[in-house]
Amino acid sequence: MTALSGQRAFITGGASGIGAEMARRFTREGAHVVVADVNDGLGKQVAVEVGGDFEHLDVTDRAAWDAVIAAHDPFDIVCLNAGVSTYQHVAGNVSNYPFEHLDDDKYERIMSINVDGVVHGARAVIPGMVARKTGHILVTASLAGIIAIPPDPIYGLTKHAMVGLVKSLGPALEPHGVCISALCPGFVDTPLVTDVTRDFIKAFSSDVLDVSIAGDLAMRALTERIAGSQWTVSYGHPIQQYVPTIPFV
Ligand SMILES: NC(=O)c1ccc[n+]([C@@H]2O[C@H](COP(=O)([O-])OP(=O)(O)OC[C@H]3O[C@@H](n4cnc5c(N)ncnc54)[C@H](O)[C@@H]3O)[C@@H](O)[C@H]2O)c1
Repeated sequence: MTALSGQRAFITGGASGIGAEMARRFTREGAHVVVADVNDGLGKQVAVEVGGDFEHLDVTDRAAWDAVIAAHDPFDIVCLNAGVSTYQHVAGNVSNYPFEHLDDDKYERIMSINVDGVVHGARAVIPGMVARKTGHILVTASLAGIIAIPPDPIYGLTKHAMVGLVKSLGPALEPHGVCISALCPGFVDTPLVTDVTRDFIKAFSSDVLDVSIAGDLAMRALTERIAGSQWTVSYGHPIQQYVPTIPFV
């Protein structure tokens, strides 16, 4: 008997990086996984590899969310993981793109994927979980949802928004038997991290984490099952729950 034996998991952004790693780990732990992504080629590859299913889903499309969940529910675990950085596909040094010159297209793209996509997803899956009085939503935020990320302030904005959402939804969902928690890793070795960012990290004698940490982090959050919690890990530091030093409630 493995930890996720008989469970069903849905993972957005499951075609690559952290999402693909969670798909592999959850499968090894006994779950059936549905990989959802806009990248059909890679998404299908991951689904075949893990013996799961693939669904094309653009997380920014509210109607598509409802259709996909209606077709595949029930899920025990839903990972709202798809995300982008502001300058992921821009060549060169991001310091050449100061905040005040951020163009509308890039701003709207990151806000719609990193923020709207998670809100749409949560609204689509919560009713079923509440009705069944079970389920766990994992939101892939970032360490950039807790600490500063000067090279990409809008990315920091979206990830702080996710931590705020998870903190606030946690106690709202808990009485209904549903848990939501945030994954807050530091830099992980995925295509999201550009060469410029890698140089920036190395300048601080740090490095990216192997992507396998994503599976460990997700399993820790699922096992501990603490409403509204944030789970951090960064290079040279173990997985730990982030608990603010000044508790107000
Ligand atoms: N890599 C890191 O250092 C790091 C650290 C902390 C948090 N994160 C977060 O982890 C999550 C996954 O990132 P990753 O590093 O694995 O990056 P990645 O680029 O490897 O994977 C992101 C996936 O999201 C998909 N995606 C993009 N837009 C989408 C959309 N509109 N609808 C559906 N899918 C879409 C992509 O096709 C891709 O498969 C993101 O939310 C990211 O912000 C990454």
